[in-house]
Amino acid sequence: MRIIPTIVAATVAALILSTGLAVAETRLDPMAVLAGRPAGSDPLDPMTALRARADLAEVADGNQEFGGLPDGEGAEETYYQCVACHSTEIIKQQRVTDHRWDELWRWMVEAQGMVGPEPDTKTLILTYLKTNFSSER
Ligand code: HEC
Repeated sequence: MRIIPTIVAATVAALILSTGLAVAETRLDPMAVLAGRPAGSDPLDPMTALRARADLAEVADGNQEFGGLPDGEGAEETYYQCVACHSTEIIKQQRVTDHRWDELWRWMVEAQGMVGPEPDTKTLILTYLKTNFSSER
């Protein structure tokens, strides 16, 4: 009887074939890993670097409505408090310590005659300045 070895051989062949197909199926689409990812998030995408730079440029430009100050809580208050005397450029170029911001505030009031706002607004503005233009973070 040669039927049993034949059946075994056929079964083995079928198994190998179906395993092969299953493997092939899992490997099919090289783009599948990228599907669903937001544009620019893939390090293999040659456009990623350029998109990231465009995003940075947007941040660097800030909000044009507020003299190019970066968006954030206190941006508007900072703008109106500070542009009475000078442009926002002098602020945007700063990278000073938190302590230095407190000193600058005092100097602006005592030496330059800046009219200080309500304490809450002062805190808001100083927090904004320290968050965005500090050398400490
Ligand atoms: C009453 C006017 C006035 C107001 C309001 C004012 N400043 Fe100034 N500020 C000045 C003057 C004057 C200078 C010196 C400008 C110069 O050197 O050309 C100055 C300079 C600066 C400098 C540069 C300091 C340095 O080390 O050179 C910074 C930073 C600054 N101001 C931040 C601010 C911020 C932030 C605000 C708002 C919270 C503000 N200023 C509001 C008058 C003012």
